[in-house]
Amino acid sequence: MAFTDAFLEELRAKNEISEVIGSYVNLKKAGRLYKGLCPFHGEKTPSFTVYPDTQSFYCFGCGVGGDVIGFIRKAENLDYTEAIKLLADRSGIAMPESGYDDSMLKRRNRIYEMNKEAARFFFNQLIDEKNRHALQYYFDRGYTFETIKHFGLGYAPDSWDALKKHLNELRFSNEELYEANLLKKSAKGGYYDNFRGRVMVPIIDLRGRVVAFGGRVLDDSKPKYINTSDTLAYKKTHQIFAMNFAKSHAENGLILCEGYMDVIALHQAGFENAVASCGTALTPEQVRVIAKYTDTVILSQDADEAGRKAVDKSIALFSDVGIKVRVLNIQGAKDPDEFIQKFGADRFKALIEGAETDTEYKLLLAKQKYDLSSPAQLADYVGEAARILSELSPVKRDIYASEIAEQTKVSKQAILSESKRYAGKVGRTKRREINRSAMQMQSEKDKINPEKRRYKAAALAEERIIAVLLCHPDLCAAAQAALGDDDFVTAFNKHIYAVVTRRIQAGESLQLSSLGQELTMEEVGALAGLEAMGKTLSNPQQELRESIATLKEEKRKLLKPDLAAMSDEEFRKLFEN
Ligand code: GTP
Ligand code: MN
Repeated sequence: MAFTDAFLEELRAKNEISEVIGSYVNLKKAGRLYKGLCPFHGEKTPSFTVYPDTQSFYCFGCGVGGDVIGFIRKAENLDYTEAIKLLADRSGIAMPESGYDDSMLKRRNRIYEMNKEAARFFFNQLIDEKNRHALQYYFDRGYTFETIKHFGLGYAPDSWDALKKHLNELRFSNEELYEANLLKKSAKGGYYDNFRGRVMVPIIDLRGRVVAFGGRVLDDSKPKYINTSDTLAYKKTHQIFAMNFAKSHAENGLILCEGYMDVIALHQAGFENAVASCGTALTPEQVRVIAKYTDTVILSQDADEAGRKAVDKSIALFSDVGIKVRVLNIQGAKDPDEFIQKFGADRFKALIEGAETDTEYKLLLAKQKYDLSSPAQLADYVGEAARILSELSPVKRDIYASEIAEQTKVSKQAILSESKRYAGKVGRTKRREINRSAMQMQSEKDKINPEKRRYKAAALAEERIIAVLLCHPDLCAAAQAALGDDDFVTAFNKHIYAVVTRRIQAGESLQLSSLGQELTMEEVGALAGLEAMGKTLSNPQQELRESIATLKEEKRKLLKPDLAAMSDEEFRKLFEN
């Protein structure tokens, strides 16, 4: 799969990293660097850094880093060759004729083709007279034919092999169809249609490709929905249903629902900014997709217990990345779809306009729990309300405290001082939580070099040596004169050092995009971090000398047995040897 350095060099030159990343992340210039909010983990203050002079990026928060190819791989969930293909397409460079492995790319493209043909088949079945009952199902739900065409809805006939036969005729093999999750395999190894007797909703990605399906039964039988499981072309935790339509209507916020059918009903009623997660609880990855398009989300989950739990979790995920949340209070219907059916679009619009802020919503939920005519319960309510207010800014706290004082006839002063008391506590727990998550991220960073935990001092010295060489390859000879491969303690750094020094000696490029050919994405990411560190060293010669001395000392300690810590038995053995 080797690409030539010349090809990679051209690719890199034509895909200026700050420009490419700039279309994903809002970057601000800071001297020679750019900074922004990391797209790979939730953060409110920027620790994601782009280095134009080495064409690399690194996040000091989560330790993700690399070159423009690595960024695209992570952001678009592609493999190495696919990412290169995307960048080549983007910048109008021809891919080399041969010599690279694009089998994954081809398999994934086959899945897109199969899905497209399947969607076409399902639609044709839907409008076939013999399946009139399926079309009637949609009409009964109030969907117009326009809507059906817009969303490409369909019907999978109640048959074990209707789709299989059709796609076999189009020269898709059973193995391929199985890989797309369109077929299932029986215990005996026979293949059969995954979706049978279901109305079908295609899930379409941001580039307009059919990536998956949701299929619903027409009656009350179980399971109500069957969804495509993850394939090479689909990761359900990363996908937002109807985002392909909603992305251009997102400026005033997105409406987040639970189900496909809610979204379809809302679009038909003129709310084209409605989306849903794909049959899973909302994930941080989906939140990131949403955050690219809007800073406000209107939560429109079902009006049941599960829906309320989902709301709580969603509020937490969105506020992690600074997205404003409002919550719809749907009453008299179980979900948005039913609400529109019963009360119409205008009432839904009014509902949106009156949507509560997340604080109002939390206060309302708290209030519903208590009987405010009982003094004991009233006190509990005020206590809970004070806790909710404790998370707010002083101004907001004051405003809501006035309201609660009015409702409850408890003095505003009492409410405010109670909530300040919580604010102190919350502050402490929050700080602890932040520390814990920082530690978790640190251990993520250390996963790439698992020995670092045990041999910390040695590993840090090794890292500094590599960092110096990455930024000052002219010091390679000096390093090699003083240091052998065997002086390294951790296997990971030993490997990286060997690759780096070999490339320097051979006069090969140290650009991350070239290193990506012989190192994994995670390894390149670690190197981006070291490179970022290397740039901050003011006296590289001295740093190199000292790090080599430290490493040798650490190695010597490891080789020399610690006599004091030995058992008598071990001590005797040592001398016998
Ligand atoms: P309708 O009854 O058709 O109105 O469904 P809904 O759109 O209101 O969906 P519901 O609230 O029942 O479920 C929300 C989402 O959860 C659906 O869109 C599906 O993605 C998913 N879901 C619901 N039921 C099932 C199920 O039985 N299996 C799986 N895998 N997913 C389900
Ligand atoms: Mn519903």
